[in-house]
Amino acid sequence: MSSNLLQIGVLASGSGSNLQAIIDSCDSGVLRGKARVCVVLSNRRDAFALERARKHSIDAIYIDTASCCCDKLMLSELQKRNTGLVCLAGYMQKISPVIVAAFPERIINIHPALLPLFGGKGMYGHHVHEAVLSANEKESGATVHFVDDEYDHGSIILQRRVPVLAGDTCKTLAARVLEVEHRLYPEAIAAIIGGLK
Ligand code: GRF
Repeated sequence: MSSNLLQIGVLASGSGSNLQAIIDSCDSGVLRGKARVCVVLSNRRDAFALERARKHSIDAIYIDTASCCCDKLMLSELQKRNTGLVCLAGYMQKISPVIVAAFPERIINIHPALLPLFGGKGMYGHHVHEAVLSANEKESGATVHFVDDEYDHGSIILQRRVPVLAGDTCKTLAARVLEVEHRLYPEAIAAIIGGLK
């Protein structure tokens, strides 16, 4: 295993389809020969993301974020694998300032809307798409951004638009955005590796 590969630590709480897109991209897409996923951490013991990681022989670790030493544990799991980039992929918990400080400009997140619109506290999952539909937006999309101490706030790395179609439901819009996310996240990581920052 080449040490030239960027070691990516992924934090995920749910299905992990974006994790899968990153893994696949490291195997045979834009991240091939550039990066590998070294560990997947989850605050949910039953997250399907952990199962996806294990299927690919990637270390998959549940971290009880209610425990007092969870920051220390998370940090240690990331640092002992020389993690160079932390990717939040459906991680449903605010990331600790301790972790943010330990990885300056090295933590990124994907959000299912065109930030700065439809972001912030409470704007996750179906809430985002419901808000987009209620506002009668003509388009939505996905955003990859750096993570700082505020929800959905750090500078934007890449964004891609999708149309909102007549008759869209939360489900149909979410599916259209998710499809774009799966291409956008690996591309954003490749852009970072390419020296964007
Ligand atoms: C995605 O829509 C992502 O934008 C958001 O959470 C969802 C995670 O989906 N942050 P998955 O677990 O990657 O399938």
